[in-house]
Amino acid sequence: EHCKGVNGLDKVVLREVRGCSAEVYLYGGHVTSWKNEHGEELLFLSSKANFNPPKAIRGGIPICFPQFSNLGPLESHGFARNRFWSIDNDPPPFPINSSNKAFIDLILKHSEEDVKVWPHRYEYRLRITLGPGGDLMLTSRIRNMNTDGKPFSFTFAYHTYFAVTDISEVRVEGLETLDYLDNLKNRERFTEQGDAITFESEIDRIYLSTPTKIAILDHERKRTFVLRKDGLPDAVVWNPWDKKAKAMPDFGDDEYKHMLCVEAACIEKPITLKPGEEWKGRQELSAVPSSYCSGQ
Ligand code: BG6
Repeated sequence: EHCKGVNGLDKVVLREVRGCSAEVYLYGGHVTSWKNEHGEELLFLSSKANFNPPKAIRGGIPICFPQFSNLGPLESHGFARNRFWSIDNDPPPFPINSSNKAFIDLILKHSEEDVKVWPHRYEYRLRITLGPGGDLMLTSRIRNMNTDGKPFSFTFAYHTYFAVTDISEVRVEGLETLDYLDNLKNRERFTEQGDAITFESEIDRIYLSTPTKIAILDHERKRTFVLRKDGLPDAVVWNPWDKKAKAMPDFGDDEYKHMLCVEAACIEKPITLKPGEEWKGRQELSAVPSSYCSGQ
């Protein structure tokens, strides 16, 4: 279903038989909503989110391409999140079987604007699928279309904002004992010591070479998000906490309590593609009732 969203921006709504749904804005190729069969929102979207291009939408799943954060010469998180994507009506076959699933194919190609800041030709195909159980899958295929024989390199993240009841009651499992780069300490490398990650202050880390499955446990709501990823070795964990929240104009002062970003990413070792080569990276999210009960 193709319709108009906030500020008349084009959006696509995906629906699944049991009532799960997802919303995708063509602006940014940006998933802004993912609801379970009870109509509960599973992604965080700021009440102050800006739907005014060229600003990126605060919340949902921004696409960070071709640069994660400010790790290079481009604007923070690259430009894909503030470009207008198109619906791809004739995508080349995807290896995953999408029959009986609601999905949309989007495409972004280099524009003249892009080429000025990143002198490469590319085709970026994004398939967003809502599975029969309400699972949300994002598959990216990025191809080097350069005709000058030049390779290009990029870093990437699905900057996923999960909705949580109370950040101080959340834990993340699957990143124990891993090395991470701490964005709050000049990207110095540390090793995670704790059992699971819990939150009591600002956090901004790039966990390196993580397992393909990460769990985010929302104790209050007895819900666990399971993030599975493929082709994306790293995982970013971010919460701005109170001070940074206040400094962000498109983020409510207290909203940090109700969100957590866990992002399937490829950052430490950039992806390099020769002309004609294609890279594929996938993130799959599910939300299941939690078996975790504190103190029991
Ligand atoms: C996270 C980064 O992924 O995104 C943080 O690790 C950054 O350093 C955050 O502050 C938000 O970025 P932006 O550009 O959307 O405000």
